Amino acid sequence: MATHFKIDGLKAEIEGKEILKGINLEIKGGEIHAIMGPNGTGKSTLASALMGHPKYEVTEGAVELDGEDVLEMAVDERARAGLFLGMQYPSEITGVTNSDFLRSAINARREEGKEISLIKFIRLMEGKMKELDMNPEFAHRYLNEGFSGGEKKRNEILQMMMIDPKLVILDEIDSGLDIDALKIVANGVNAMRSEDRGFLIITHYQRLLDYITPDFVHVMMQGRIVKSGGPELAARLESEGYDWVKEELGIVDETVGQV
Ligand SMILES: Nc1ncnc2c1ncn2[C@@H]1O[C@H](COP(=O)(O)OP(=O)(O)OP(=O)(O)O)[C@@H](O)[C@H]1O
Ligand SMILES: [Mg+2]
Repeated sequence: MATHFKIDGLKAEIEGKEILKGINLEIKGGEIHAIMGPNGTGKSTLASALMGHPKYEVTEGAVELDGEDVLEMAVDERARAGLFLGMQYPSEITGVTNSDFLRSAINARREEGKEISLIKFIRLMEGKMKELDMNPEFAHRYLNEGFSGGEKKRNEILQMMMIDPKLVILDEIDSGLDIDALKIVANGVNAMRSEDRGFLIITHYQRLLDYITPDFVHVMMQGRIVKSGGPELAARLESEGYDWVKEELGIVDETVGQV
């Protein structure tokens, strides 16, 4: 069955301050949705709320992945159900090697007794690292510790490729990447495109969308999706900025959470 992900009227707050003010979005397997929008409009908050970050309290709405209630699930259950977040700022975890982390993450999504064998895991990891043009030594380094900005982003894509999620959220995966790395990461995403997987890609720049063609582009302002269109919308934002959207919708301050 093709993947089906649905966000319905999602509201979320942090420390009593409402940041998400009613998000509606439906992503079907095979589709790539891009979310763009000025700084501080709630994009990363949406990603965190979907993954179940404990700081964000969902106050209203529903999120479903293949008919399952996502908001009912703990963070690890969401990951097991097939949600994946490539973070804007990946955390460094000393003491856990990249390969240990990846193997645990893969096995967490498998039933007991059906864990991936060490040989298969190593073969898989080596293959994917090669595709991403990563030095094999990164397998043995502590997770993200001392990784450069671009190395962290590439490592997020390695995780995505190995974990085989159903719904991939990438938050500014392009920030910090050089031109070659941007192409490599985009190839990784394109290779993962399938009926069984949907993508939500948060980005500020058209240049990522030159390589990953989205089916839908959404603009976020004031904690809502205020405009949706096709790839041409991203192109227009790139050349004209956001003022025309604000004018069209009568928005003066596009940010959320300012007191
Ligand atoms: N943990 C937090 N504590 C306090 N305020 C927060 C927290 N998380 C988000 N906010 C506030 O919510 C608003 C939206 O932040 P968010 O990170 O979602 O924006 P964004 O759209 O991802 O912006 P950017 O494009 O700069 O990454 C901001 O005003 C931010 O300061
Ligand atoms: Mg952000």
